[in-house]
Amino acid sequence: MADTRYTEANRSTWNLWLTRDTGSDHFKDVERFRAAGSSLRPIELAEVGEDGVASKSLLHLQCNLGSETLSWARLGAQVTGVDIADEAITFARTLAVESGLSERARFIRSDLYALPETLDETFDLVFASYGALCWAPDLDGWAQVAARYVAPGGALLLIDLHPLGMALDIDRDDPSGRRLRIDRPYFHTREPQTEQTPGEPAVYAWGYGLGEVVTALAATGLRIESLREYPYAHWRQCPQLVETGDGYWRWPDPANQLSLLFSLRATRPA
Ligand SMILES: C[S@@+](CC[C@H](N)C(=O)[O-])C[C@H]1O[C@@H](n2cnc3c(N)ncnc32)[C@H](O)[C@@H]1O
Repeated sequence: MADTRYTEANRSTWNLWLTRDTGSDHFKDVERFRAAGSSLRPIELAEVGEDGVASKSLLHLQCNLGSETLSWARLGAQVTGVDIADEAITFARTLAVESGLSERARFIRSDLYALPETLDETFDLVFASYGALCWAPDLDGWAQVAARYVAPGGALLLIDLHPLGMALDIDRDDPSGRRLRIDRPYFHTREPQTEQTPGEPAVYAWGYGLGEVVTALAATGLRIESLREYPYAHWRQCPQLVETGDGYWRWPDPANQLSLLFSLRATRPA
């Protein structure tokens, strides 16, 4: 069981952010969902493929405000979103009603490590994305919980920030974005990185190298089908990135295509 000291502090800070920072990227995702019916991005749509999610059951771990969860529901999935933040779940439930999707969506407020105490089902697709693992104090525990919910014949799809992009700091004065400095450890450290701006509560985050991620998921018995890396981000991770209108921010210099996201797909044989 993971140490809950840090996750409870993170819960409280996420509650603050979600009530106060209504112009944040998370709320922009909600606006995209309201305007276009979906806040899903090309990577997850490509990974799910032509078969799609219609009539499938889907568990979304760390669902935040629920716009991605409800976008999958709009594509025909029966969805369950889970998040530790009370404000996230309250908002997501209201958004489900507002968008007429409450029959196809339920939201559970829970620390994901404690989820097996209250949720005893399996799902065709377990999904987590764009800022998931950095909140996990224990990667093996995260992987075991995620894998536990994958039904026979089902899949886990994880799309997350690339650990290389997280470990490096890019020189703000270099337009190409090629001058790099190591800012944080690439590999996991037991003690979290404490992020704090003056006058704000702290949040605690952890990094995991790509090998650590793959190994933790392979150890659950799931079969790793693919690991893909992408030279773009879902947010303006550094000032050099240029928004390209498809939900991503890209490097302007073709000689710098440092990976900023990865996707991992793993399945449980039928
Ligand atoms: C960056 S957001 C995920 C973004 C989401 N994919 C989206 O685009 O809206 C990370 C989420 O993880 C949640 N979280 C952090 N620690 C958690 C935990 N231990 N259990 C469940 N959720 C957690 C936070 O409350 C937050 O909503």
